Amino acid sequence: MSKAGRLVVLVSGSGTNLQALLDASADPSYGARVVAVGADRDGIEGLARASKAEVPTFVEKLRDYGTRADWDAAIAAKIASYEPDLVVSAGFMKILGAPTLDAFPVLNTHPALLPSFPGAHGVRDALAHGVKVTGCTVMLADSGIDTGPIVAQEAVPVRPEDDEAELHERIKTVERRLLVDIVGRMAREGWTVSGRIVRIGNQSGGEST
Ligand code: GRF
Repeated sequence: MSKAGRLVVLVSGSGTNLQALLDASADPSYGARVVAVGADRDGIEGLARASKAEVPTFVEKLRDYGTRADWDAAIAAKIASYEPDLVVSAGFMKILGAPTLDAFPVLNTHPALLPSFPGAHGVRDALAHGVKVTGCTVMLADSGIDTGPIVAQEAVPVRPEDDEAELHERIKTVERRLLVDIVGRMAREGWTVSGRIVRIGNQSGGEST
């Protein structure tokens, strides 16, 4: 069974999911703490949040490397230097390659109910499709785009007046709570993966979270 005390969190933007993890891990009983924050770009609020919390940061930009494989190797090496038990991709807008995925469990969060509406525009795509319920998914990352084993999901109703920004904000309120809950439980109770079925703690049969 895997456990997840040391977290490296990867961000590309505002970092509100990161902030929720930083806030939760201020309490030692949470069981996990953010030991480093990585990004694929400079000047984002996520990095500022990490600095404010006195958590080390690193930036690996794809354009600084000759090939994607070089970037994959560089970010994996940077992540490894912080010896994480779990990597959390929290609004990180890059697909991680084998050097990271083979070395560490990676948890990802997505603002739609997978397998519906994967990819960079999950909220926009759900709205355009006219769904009445969407939500968020916390999953283990694999080499695909939002295709990994699902750890937890929560539904969010779509309101007739919603635009993409409003709906995304409402999803993110739920997403932050779910991510904090799941990371804490994975850290404290451990988890196992059997095929596509993820179980936290010593649950036997039936449950999917
Ligand atoms: C989240 O909804 C995440 O699922 C999506 O982008 C958003 C990131 O928000 N990929 P934040 O940077 O944590 O505020």
